[in-house]
This record gives sequence, C-alpha cells and structure tokens, in this order.
Amino acid sequence: MKRLAYVSRATSVLAPGELQTIATAAQANNRRLDITGVLTYDDGVFFQELEGPEAAVDALADRIRVDPRHRDMVVISVENGDLARHHPAWAMRVINLGDEPDSGYLRPVIARLSQAIRTVGRYTQPAVFRLLESGIDPTTAPARRVQRAVLCCDVRAFSAFAQALAPDRLAAFITVFVDVCVGCVSARGGEVTKIIGDAVLAHFPRECSGEALAAALDILTTLARIRRQAAANAPERYLHVGVGLAAGEVFEGNVGSGFKLDYTILGDPVNHAARLEALTRTQATALLFEEAFAASLPPEWSTIAIGRHHLKGRDDQTTISTVDLPIVRELPSSRLAEELAWCLDVGPSASQSRPKA
Ligand SMILES: Cc1cc2nc3c(=O)[nH]c(=O)nc-3n(C[C@H](O)[C@H](O)[C@H](O)COP(=O)(O)O)c2cc1C
Repeated sequence: MKRLAYVSRATSVLAPGELQTIATAAQANNRRLDITGVLTYDDGVFFQELEGPEAAVDALADRIRVDPRHRDMVVISVENGDLARHHPAWAMRVINLGDEPDSGYLRPVIARLSQAIRTVGRYTQPAVFRLLESGIDPTTAPARRVQRAVLCCDVRAFSAFAQALAPDRLAAFITVFVDVCVGCVSARGGEVTKIIGDAVLAHFPRECSGEALAAALDILTTLARIRRQAAANAPERYLHVGVGLAAGEVFEGNVGSGFKLDYTILGDPVNHAARLEALTRTQATALLFEEAFAASLPPEWSTIAIGRHHLKGRDDQTTISTVDLPIVRELPSSRLAEELAWCLDVGPSASQSRPKA
C-alpha cells in the first residue's frame, strides 16, 4: 500500500462543473485501479490524497502531474507499508471546501501550505526543489560525481555601487542582474545553484557546454540592452559583468550540518570558473573559458585563444579563450571605474569632469 498527498494550483479558476468532471473520471478510473482518496479544491488550490497499490498510485500520480488543468504539483507526504486506508469508502471523495461548512477550517491551512511551498521554492535551488516536488527528502539524496559545465557571472565594480546606492536601490539593481542571469540560464536548460551577493553560479550538463556559452552570451546581450535603455544617471547604465566558464567533474550533493545544509556543487571547475571571471577584469573581455570547456564545445563555435595563464589552484598553465564577438569586448576596467565614479559620484574621479566617451 502506498499513500501520497500533494498540493497543486489550478491553471485557471475552475469553471462551474469542472471539479465534478474531474471527480467523475477519477472515480471511474480509481475504482478499476483499487485507488481510494480525497480531492479538495478551494480558491485555485488542490489538495489530494491517493492511496492504493504502490505501482498504481505512482502511475496515477505521474498522469495527474502532467494534467494541464493544474500546475506546481508538490508531493507533501509519501507513506509505504501496511497502511490502513484513510478513505476506504471513496474511489475519490471530492470536496469543494467553499461549499462544506464542516471542512471550512481546512481552507486557510491548505492555502497557507500552498503559499509556503511556493515561497520556499523561490529561495531553494531547483535541484533541491525538484526532489521535494517528487516527495524525496533532499537531505537523504546521495552525493555523486558528475560532469558539468560551470558558469560564474559577477557584477563589475560592485563595491562602488554598494557604497553609492541606498539599500533599496542596491537591491533593485542586483535584482535586475539576478533576473537576467536566472532567465538566460534557465532558458538554455541550466540551473542557477547559488546567488552570492553580486555573483551567480550556474551549471549545465557537460554535454551542454554550447548551451552554457550561449547562455553567457544571452546574459551579455540582455545587459547591453538594459544599459542602452537605462536613464542617463541610472546605475543600470553601468551594469557590466564578467563571465567565466569551465568544465569537468564536480561533486554534487549535501554539505553542512544539522544547523545549515546546502545542496551544492564543488570542485576544480567551480573554482576555475570563478577565477576566469576574475581574470576578465584585466583582459578587456567580458567572457573567458579554459581548455577543458573549449574542448567540450560543439564544433560550430569558433573560439579564439588569448593566451596561457596560470589559474590559482592548477599546477600547469591553461589556454584561456573567448569568442570573437562584439558583445564580449569590454571597456577596460580602469575606464569602467572612471565612468562609474562619475555616475555614482564616488571615488577619485567624482569631482572631475565627465570622462569623454
Ligand atoms: C487535481 C486533479 C486530480 C485528479 N485526480 C485523478 C484521480 O484521482 N484519478 C484519475 O484517474 N484521474 C485524476 N485526474 C485526471 C487525470 O489527470 C487524467 O486526466 C485522467 O486520469 C485521464 O483519465 P482517462 O484516461 O480516463 O481520460 C485528476 C486531475 C486533476 C487536475
């Protein structure tokens, strides 16, 4: 016997009779599958408990998950074993909580549960939330070694912004950067695993290195558009970033103690991506990657080597490359600092006249 409970959100407000349509089909199917349970609906939120033979419950849950009438299905409880059914008499008891005074007390409980899950989801790495969604306890997920393409992206001259901007304005400024990174990385199938102040760490399966590079270029292109469209004295006008890309084997799993857990990736490619990002500051380019990353790119990408460097943490020198596209060519850092100082009215150039473009 298996019992599985989940919450989800209706794709749109249910039309009258729609809950009954779901109920009628569910009851006919469930009777055949020896499944019993309850389905509640209130104000756009479903709660359902399914109980029955394990394989039948799993197969039905998979089918329900992809039903377009709802989304954001998160499994909140899974039990296995010799269980007594909670709803032995119901192939599927369906309750519209708004119509049932006796169940009214459940309405705020389920609504808050659904809201809390969505809030947690927004603060949680996608890898962890995916496990939570499918009812797996992420704290028990085994660590593993995997091949990844790693992307590290960092805001140029962030300390100048941090000094000059009021906290709310600084948060709005960083939100622009984070939204661009998360949007571009997700659209290319990658995953943002960490946002550390003004830096974003993301990863892709190693065989998707081309997508990682495309995501980096998307970030640079989107930020260039934001800079062009920003008001003359808005900090976004000076929102430049550096991107480092590296590839190789990383550890993926839980680190930390009972007080604070992190599901993360660790290893040389992560360190190298961060160091390559730092190196962009002195190379007048917004994008750099190392040999292993270049080697895993599909042949359609043409790259240019810009020299050999000794990256901290590596014994040997590695060839550093970029792509020959206008979008990666950058203001040298000194010039950027001058521009910034003028704009933000901080730093040594603050009292001087505006540097010529
Ligand atoms: C919130 C929700 C709960 C559902 N519960 C069940 C269920 O308990 N049993 C079921 O067979 N289908 C359920 N469905 C419908 C399934 O997603 C799917 O449409 C149905 O199983 C297909 O049945 P059919 O092959 O007979 O058309 C549910 C759908 C939604 C949106």
